[in-house]
Amino acid sequence: MRTIVAGNWKMNTDRLSAEALVSAVVQHAGGIVPEVEVIIAPPFPFLAMAVAKCEGSRIIVAAQNCHQAEKGAYTGEVSATMLKSLGVTACIVGHSERRQYFGESDAVIGEKAAALLAIGLTPIFCCGENQEERTSGRHFHVVTEQMKGALGRFSNAELERIVIAYEPVWAIGTGLTASKEQAQEMHAHIRALLHTHGASVAERVPILYGGSCNPTNAESLFAQLDVNGGLIGGASLVAEQFLELVRIAGKKQ
Ligand code: PGA
Repeated sequence: MRTIVAGNWKMNTDRLSAEALVSAVVQHAGGIVPEVEVIIAPPFPFLAMAVAKCEGSRIIVAAQNCHQAEKGAYTGEVSATMLKSLGVTACIVGHSERRQYFGESDAVIGEKAAALLAIGLTPIFCCGENQEERTSGRHFHVVTEQMKGALGRFSNAELERIVIAYEPVWAIGTGLTASKEQAQEMHAHIRALLHTHGASVAERVPILYGGSCNPTNAESLFAQLDVNGGLIGGASLVAEQFLELVRIAGKKQ
């Protein structure tokens, strides 16, 4: 199974700080645990720069969002085709902030994933329950519905090309993390859902943990059987912390 550490920069950095951060990651990632796949997802305006700086390195450049349509009158939007033409090879879809602030439904998220898969890009599909859903014991149900609603349309061959990130909303940017037990049981649940499509889907789809993951708490989370690395927000903005997370993920190999 692949191990992945992906950095979601969200709406942070500016031209100069983005350049500095990409350069630092590229410069120092070369020597460390080559088995771990390293992905960075800078904001749209910095993607072309990131692709250029990452050329010839191990770093994969992803976008944080895309529109589901191939092109057309959608002012302000960015298509998967545009991303591909820049050399971007992956894209986050269904992040809880997109669901919460931009009203993205499971159906729309599924369309975005379909647009990416259709042209050979990797969707990094996010799912996860909010605090109220966890407290009321509905977290497994919520994640099941998110998976079915967005991914139910795909063939096994398509599912095998997706990366999943479980990100409990109550842990994102809050400093709270799921315990290793909470993470493992939800990842095992997601793995079981994938298994309903066949063993090869379950064996091939990496499931990342996200939510206040940092070098202090990552070791026990990444060590869990069904945790195949992390989707990192805040800690991905500090090159040393992000690279330390790659090192920690390498211990899984
Ligand atoms: P965080 O964000 O690491 O800052 O909690 C994770 C994410 O939202 O992807």
